[in-house]
Amino acid sequence: MAISNQFSGQPDALGPVTAGVPKKIRSTRLSKPGVVEFAAPPKPEFSFNLKPADIARHLNRFVIGQREAKKVLSVALCDHFQHVRLTLEGDATPFYQKQNVLLLGPTGVGKTHLIRSAAELIGVPFVKADATKFSETGYVGGDVDDLVRDLVRRAGGDVKQAEHGIIYLDEVDKLATRGESGGRDVSGRGVQTNLLKLMEDGDVPVVSPNDMTGQLQSAMSAMRGGGVPQPETINTRHILFIVSGAFSGIGEIIRQRVLSSGRSRGNEAASRTTKDDQSLLTSAATSDFISYGLEPEFIGRLPVRVACHGLDTDDLFDVLRKSESSLIHQYERAFAAYGIKCEFKDDGLRRLAELAATEHTGARGLMTICERVFRDLKFKLPGSRVKCFAVTATLVDAPAQELRRLLARASR
Ligand SMILES: Nc1ncnc2c1ncn2[C@@H]1O[C@H](COP(=O)(O)OP(=O)(O)OP(=O)(O)O)[C@@H](O)[C@H]1O
Ligand SMILES: [Mg+2]
Repeated sequence: MAISNQFSGQPDALGPVTAGVPKKIRSTRLSKPGVVEFAAPPKPEFSFNLKPADIARHLNRFVIGQREAKKVLSVALCDHFQHVRLTLEGDATPFYQKQNVLLLGPTGVGKTHLIRSAAELIGVPFVKADATKFSETGYVGGDVDDLVRDLVRRAGGDVKQAEHGIIYLDEVDKLATRGESGGRDVSGRGVQTNLLKLMEDGDVPVVSPNDMTGQLQSAMSAMRGGGVPQPETINTRHILFIVSGAFSGIGEIIRQRVLSSGRSRGNEAASRTTKDDQSLLTSAATSDFISYGLEPEFIGRLPVRVACHGLDTDDLFDVLRKSESSLIHQYERAFAAYGIKCEFKDDGLRRLAELAATEHTGARGLMTICERVFRDLKFKLPGSRVKCFAVTATLVDAPAQELRRLLARASR
């Protein structure tokens, strides 16, 4: 069976695609450090030559910080690819155990962004969904089996290719039952249970039993015969699962556990550890996730866990200045559409970062601040005589005043 790289970077599956990255990456080759070349035409056979460091280098272009998460993700992806390759060559590792990944960390620090950026490099079918859209019965929300069927769609109908794909499930913390997290109650538990068999080794019918049109179509094509016969079920044994969630409030659960075990051992270091939120998250144990409201069987199937750190002012400054997916490109383009050059100065970027840090919503705070700063400028400047302006700390602190000054100067 051949797997080509044509499935990489499915924009519709991933939400907005990272700026500057081709929508369809056919094959990837690293020639210079940090530069991924996207070469056509697609190779018909499965080829994956990237090493973990290559993937991490690609992620560095878009995601600031999160070194540990980049490392873990890069290794997990490479392991998956090597496993797929060996399986396709008939040399599958006996008793191979999947290394499903869990990413956790505060809101807006790049968990989804990491996976979205990695997806650009992925040469196997890849689907992304929010755990919140599923319900236990599939009546109100979707059915978790639909995720697997989506992989087949991404694989152009080829079940064998879909069986080696990757499923990314975001917002899994919202599946927590009402434990100490105050989560979603019984329906979340039902969705977790439904996911269990998929995460290990399950068979999903290619056509949903609820899809009458699909049932009819497959019956008709079976009657007509011809073409390559496709299996009726998709086996999930080789599908890699990556999940993520903010798990807000889990820090307190970890703190309590560390404190009580420290007290029982008279360990002073334990209480010191609890002061640092980041080291708290990195020491999250299986029992903490269970207290949070995840089922033991569910968290047990996610052996690789990594915490993303919060973003401080320096990180946010770098998100604006260095990331290829920086928000500033969006603003530059928005003004350029009206023939206005908008030039971001370092002191302006730093001020934006400082203000965003006070929002405590990670890099999302940058959008909130920029929206406030640029609202009137975006409304008034198009059509005015202003043809260029600089974003300085002065403009960020007093945009209305700066706007008046720009308009007055241009009308002279
Ligand atoms: N470390 C980062 N480097 C560069 N950009 C980032 C980073 N973190 C976040 N961003 C920007 O902020 C946006 C929101 O981040 P993202 O969706 O990854 O948050 P998240 O960690 O998944 O949060 P949540 O738990 O709320 O879903 C991204 O689209 C990206 O533009
Ligand atoms: Mg997210």
